[in-house]
Amino acid sequence: MSKILVVFGATGIQGGSVVKAILADPVLSRDFKIKAVTRDPSKDSAKALAQQGVEVVKADLDSKDSLRDALKNAHTVFLVTDFFGLLRNPNPTLMGEGKNLMDVAKEREILHGKNAADVAKEMEVQHLIFSSYAYISKVSKGKYVNVRQVDSKGEVEEYIRGIGVPATFLHGGTYMSNFFRGVGLSFQKKPDGTYKLPLPAPANASRFPLIKPTDTGNYVKAIIKHREQLLGERFFAASGYYTAQEIVDEFAEIKGKEVEYSEITQDEFISTLPPFLQQQMLETFLIMADPDVGLFPGYPDLKPFHEMLDEQPISWKKYVATDATYKDF
Ligand SMILES: NC(=O)c1ccc[n+]([C@@H]2O[C@H](COP(=O)([O-])OP(=O)(O)OC[C@H]3O[C@@H](n4cnc5c(N)ncnc54)[C@H](OP(=O)(O)O)[C@@H]3O)[C@@H](O)[C@H]2O)c1
Repeated sequence: MSKILVVFGATGIQGGSVVKAILADPVLSRDFKIKAVTRDPSKDSAKALAQQGVEVVKADLDSKDSLRDALKNAHTVFLVTDFFGLLRNPNPTLMGEGKNLMDVAKEREILHGKNAADVAKEMEVQHLIFSSYAYISKVSKGKYVNVRQVDSKGEVEEYIRGIGVPATFLHGGTYMSNFFRGVGLSFQKKPDGTYKLPLPAPANASRFPLIKPTDTGNYVKAIIKHREQLLGERFFAASGYYTAQEIVDEFAEIKGKEVEYSEITQDEFISTLPPFLQQQMLETFLIMADPDVGLFPGYPDLKPFHEMLDEQPISWKKYVATDATYKDF
């Protein structure tokens, strides 16, 4: 009989790619029956999942009762929590007077992760795959305390380990799509059609572990296939570490356009961002320019992780050349 795989975030990027990868795998699609979680089964992305034969279940990480229904008889769970959801749908009842939106988002993401972990423990889930990150404020010994969207996941990882749920922690790199947003960590298009990448560090100082966001499913497949070996472990998911200079050079090569790396001051960097995001985005970049920290602290060798994959991950160059994100940028 098939085991049940519950996928959170199935209507989104990470969870959606997990559903896609499992359905396309001849072995895992037979071994697992997918339950896709959404807060709203009537939305188009949820209906599209149902049309592919996936069972769509309604649950909310805010409600442990709804999670109990979703995780009933589950063998494996892919859990992604959504730090930035609160920015897309601000909830005035969560915003006490004087509270920083980013602090509320952090508290909420931690609560969501802990709710899912508690219910996974209660329902005796055999393998929780949590989309995590390092606990940067601890790793950096207090040097960077504002990378909230990363620390929140680090805190949940600690909690999952503490309560003893059998788990693997997927540490995904920086989304390759981030460089196209136009603000913060992003290329800017100049009026003459050329580009520049303005960042507050020398071009060769930063090292970004880059991931094509929809490669997440391939990494999760490997984690499921190597469950015994990876219980309690971190799985670092990126196609490689890239300096900003390499990111610029390969982008220029594929686009056939001039791309300038411009080293700017920290004040100039934050001036393009809304105040509540400034320090958080600055430190999100600075950790990648700090050899003692990094998004993947210690910069682990990625080769052993690539060796577990069925398909090799998409490189930055291939992404720029083939992904729709950058086609018209
Ligand atoms: N490494 C990077 O560069 C990078 C970049 C962007 C994001 N991220 C991280 O990725 C995470 C988001 O993943 P994503 O990119 O896959 O997000 P996404 O595409 O925006 O999808 C978010 C998913 O979360 C689900 N969700 C949100 N709130 C929920 C709740 N209360 N209960 C149940 N499900 C809920 C949504 O489902 P429904 O709406 O259908 O309920 C949706 O499927 C964030 O925490 C962020 O920190 C990382």
